[in-house]
Amino acid sequence: MKKEEVSFEIDRAKEEELDQLVHIYLEGYRGLEEYSYTHIDDVRSYMRWLWKRDPEGIFVARVGGKPVGFVAGDSNWFSRRESRKVGAIHEIVVLPEYQGMGIGHALMEKVLNYFKEKGLDRAELWVGDENYKAIEFYHRLGFREKGQYNYWIRMVKELGSKD
Ligand SMILES: CC(C)(COP(=O)(O)OP(=O)(O)OC[C@H]1O[C@@H](n2cnc3c(N)ncnc32)[C@H](O)[C@@H]1OP(=O)(O)O)[C@@H](O)C(=O)NCCC(=O)NCCS
Repeated sequence: MKKEEVSFEIDRAKEEELDQLVHIYLEGYRGLEEYSYTHIDDVRSYMRWLWKRDPEGIFVARVGGKPVGFVAGDSNWFSRRESRKVGAIHEIVVLPEYQGMGIGHALMEKVLNYFKEKGLDRAELWVGDENYKAIEFYHRLGFREKGQYNYWIRMVKELGSKD
């Protein structure tokens, strides 16, 4: 069933709202705990790590000013598989009640454009092998599977291409 439309805005994360993003992460990953941190202290450390990697690469979707999802991109990532720099998407999560409304797609578009502005020509991410919803989501965005490590699938997208 189609969900109702919601109007949202996307802009860069602010350091002082990282704790709100921690809560979005914990809620968004319910049911997918095998692929996520579950202790709040671990999520806080992870969020600090994401911020240090590339503060300009974290984008937040807001509904009426309230953060409901975010993507954490990293334009400084050296891919060991590629032996070169790529744009890495370390994290994307949308609150369950706001999923299926196009917010995830809009966040991905934003971060992929950011990578292009930085002169990167490839994006990379890792997704849990049974996180079927996310895998399908990435396929629709033009990512293809390229390798696996344990239960993580590596997906890549050429940033010059239209799909
Ligand atoms: C993966 C995730 C970020 C997607 O976010 P989202 O906001 O639900 O994504 P979207 O709404 O843009 O798209 C998801 C699907 O919803 C549907 N959808 C999109 N817009 C819609 C709309 N206006 N109305 C109804 N359905 C819609 C589509 O079926 C879409 O599938 P598609 O990718 O085949 O087009 C979200 O499911 C999530 O937070 N998952 C938990 C965390 C996670 O697994 N993260 C990935 C880790 S690698």
